[in-house]
Amino acid sequence: MSEVVHLVKRFFGSVMAKKLSATELEWVKPHLTEGELSVWNGFNTADKRHTYGVAKRAENFSGQLDTVPDGFIAAALLHDCGKIDLQLDTMSRVIATLAGSKLPAGWREKQGYLGRLARYRMHPELGSEKLTSVGARQLVVDWAADHHKPVDKWNVDTTVGELLKKADDE
Ligand SMILES: [Fe+2]
Ligand SMILES: [Fe+2]
Repeated sequence: MSEVVHLVKRFFGSVMAKKLSATELEWVKPHLTEGELSVWNGFNTADKRHTYGVAKRAENFSGQLDTVPDGFIAAALLHDCGKIDLQLDTMSRVIATLAGSKLPAGWREKQGYLGRLARYRMHPELGSEKLTSVGARQLVVDWAADHHKPVDKWNVDTTVGELLKKADDE
């Protein structure tokens, strides 16, 4: 799916996102280590709703794997955690995605809103650093780093990554 279509779906998903129910939260917790859960808890309502949906789809797809690797569902839950500290609302994320690489590279070093906007494109690196710092499992760290890269640049196993990607795109 193109990034713009994904973005439009995410936009409406975001503004209409419902809080996770107690049952849904109970499903999430056992899939995460203590450190991973501390990161996931930082997501806003819209991101919790999105990552929950991705993880449920990943669970459905996991039957296609001979062996489900450790951290598979956690990787789905945490792929976008690099967005947490940027604290951008839905509209700002749309601007950041559409502006994309056209924002001056120097802005990434800036303090304040423009810096956070420019760093949005770095959310994969920011996420993998954040996950490393809490001792997250290797697949979880790697998928955060890889999830917007072309397949030939993945550290994650291709079959595993393709299912995680499909779960994110649907
Ligand atoms: Fe992402
Ligand atoms: Fe996503």
